[in-house]
Amino acid sequence: MLTTIDVQKFNTLIEITNLINANTRSVNALLTRVLDSAMRLCNGDAASLLLLDKKAGALYFEVALGPKGQDVKRYTVKLGEGIAGWVAQHNKSLISNDVKNDHRHLKNVALEIDYPSNTMLAVPMRVKDECMGVIEIINKKDKKPFTDEDMEWLEIFATQAGIALTNARDVEKTLNHIQLLQDEIKVDKGYHTLIAKSPAILEKLDIIRRVAGTDSSVLILGESGVGKELFAEQIHLQSARSKAPFVRVNCAALPEGLLESELFGHVKGAFTGAVANRAGRFETANGGTIFLDEIGELPLALQSKLLRVIQERTFEKVGASVPVTVDLRILAATNRDIEAQVAKGEFRSDLYYRLNVLPLYIPPLRQRPEDIPELANFFLNKYMKETKKRYEGFALTAMEAMLSYAWPGNVRELENCVERACVIAKGEWIQTEDLFLKSAPVQQLHDAGERDLKNAVNSFKAQYIRKVLEERNWKQGEAAQAMNIQRTYLSKLIKELDIANRKETQT
Ligand SMILES: Nc1ncnc2c1ncn2[C@@H]1O[C@H](COP(=O)(O)OP(=O)(O)O)[C@@H](O)[C@H]1O
Ligand SMILES: [Mg+2]
Repeated sequence: MLTTIDVQKFNTLIEITNLINANTRSVNALLTRVLDSAMRLCNGDAASLLLLDKKAGALYFEVALGPKGQDVKRYTVKLGEGIAGWVAQHNKSLISNDVKNDHRHLKNVALEIDYPSNTMLAVPMRVKDECMGVIEIINKKDKKPFTDEDMEWLEIFATQAGIALTNARDVEKTLNHIQLLQDEIKVDKGYHTLIAKSPAILEKLDIIRRVAGTDSSVLILGESGVGKELFAEQIHLQSARSKAPFVRVNCAALPEGLLESELFGHVKGAFTGAVANRAGRFETANGGTIFLDEIGELPLALQSKLLRVIQERTFEKVGASVPVTVDLRILAATNRDIEAQVAKGEFRSDLYYRLNVLPLYIPPLRQRPEDIPELANFFLNKYMKETKKRYEGFALTAMEAMLSYAWPGNVRELENCVERACVIAKGEWIQTEDLFLKSAPVQQLHDAGERDLKNAVNSFKAQYIRKVLEERNWKQGEAAQAMNIQRTYLSKLIKELDIANRKETQT
């Protein structure tokens, strides 16, 4: 015979199973729900769900409920330490109805958060017999002790939580995998991965997100090698035309005669060598986007023809009299001072105004140093794959050199530099010498703002040093060796950059 409380427990269990099956995306929300039910049904005053980080050998609080839930969350518990640590280590459930006299209890945490535990019930969260975390219920109401029945129920809840967690982790893995495959497909189609870290570039991406949905022309401006083509790709990929073709034309690559037929196509017999009808780039791009790179080099005669495409969406093929109509978006880019070209009469002002509906200026790399480490590492990974070589990364001094270099050739130069280093470097780490930076014209950096640069350099250094230290369990001697610097210099940097062992300061 089921008692009333059992019915309530069964109902809650069914509810939770349904929630798990409903494929909730947020694991934390789901685990919170499971823990909250468990706490109520076991009549606890507080409850925590800790997850095991096997590599770190520690448990961290994923969910903590009760009067001091928020405070407890900043702690991590080492495996074997405290009641939760004991449960995780032994992979066994535990009832402690006299916590104060239990030698396993972590008294300092209870004291610090000012929440004394009197009774405690803790069970492992297992998946295929392996402990993934711990659920604990603290202080049974009305000063009662926890019972074996409470424990059995909590074990059922823990099994459910384990399933929820495994599902969520699988889904996350699958989604990451899909993202990788999608990226690969894009690369196959000639699209690039756009690396963006600096506020300057994130701001541009935000603008792109907003203009992508429109059909307005965008004129992308900026020095050579800043990545103008990649921004054009993003506008196309984020627009409703993304499934249709993205056609690139470099207006500087062909002489006037060939360029006209390349852009607009020709009919058979239009000129010597025109042995068949041929579609031009505008026709190929129909439905999608055409990207006219180096638009400043477009000859005046073709500028008029392009203006008509923009205004009427029609043009004639070379040698034809019937107009062709197209539906496409036009993006253009130039590294030249196009306004000066307009002033000199080299570029039609009416075309300029038509193209320049939305100007997008991409700043040079030296004005956004935050992108340098990201880009350098991205290219290093890319060329390690291509060359089948393996490096640990950039030595600290090499990264500093890259951060203070002015990059006159922008990202293109950085990419070439990393590619060459990847081919020639002999050590475990890429060193400054491997980069062959032309003597750094640092003066050019004045427009970047000295302070921005210093901040970027320091933030990179701190990140980098912390990573190496973590990999070497905070052993400064080993870390210094790995970074190829003196140990004394490392401890000086640790102080200066205020690098703390987060794990240590937490427990
Ligand atoms: N933000 C970025 N992320 C990744 N690669 C980039 C980025 N910006 C530029 N590149 C790379 O640098 C090179 C030059 O980019 P490109 O768009 O041709 O420059 P631009 O057209 O401005 O001269 C390309 O190989 C491109 O892949
Ligand atoms: Mg280009």
